[in-house]
Amino acid sequence: MRFDTGLMSDSYTLYNQTVMDHFLNPRNLGEVPDADGVGEVGAAACGDIMKISLKVKDGRIEDARFKTFGCGSAIASSSMATELIKGRTVAEAMSFSNQEVIQALGGLPPVKIHCSVLAEEAIKAALEDYRKRHPEAAGQPER
Ligand code: FES
Repeated sequence: MRFDTGLMSDSYTLYNQTVMDHFLNPRNLGEVPDADGVGEVGAAACGDIMKISLKVKDGRIEDARFKTFGCGSAIASSSMATELIKGRTVAEAMSFSNQEVIQALGGLPPVKIHCSVLAEEAIKAALEDYRKRHPEAAGQPER
């Protein structure tokens, strides 16, 4: 679903075009059916909540979706973060950092950096949940 709220005007927003695009047209919105791992985290500072669900096949993230109750930066960060981790192995995704999100989004305003941290934390919580549910996968060599 695409919609135009007129928020794209440069005079209105602190956000760049990439952030606005991921905010207004979020990728991977929703929940993975029969998820292998789910992570939900909240930001103490603002009360926003982010939930990420993962489908893992043969040690690799096949699908990632998000539901975010939060600011535009949190929505854009979760959209970009889910795009970035799809196709990675679980081990690779464990070292995922909010810096990757910021870079891929072309930067975030300093007061909005913590929103990207929320995406990193939600992904790591989902991966932890996956590892708890699939202890047999812990010692598996990553492909
Ligand atoms: S202001 Fe709360 S996550 Fe962005």
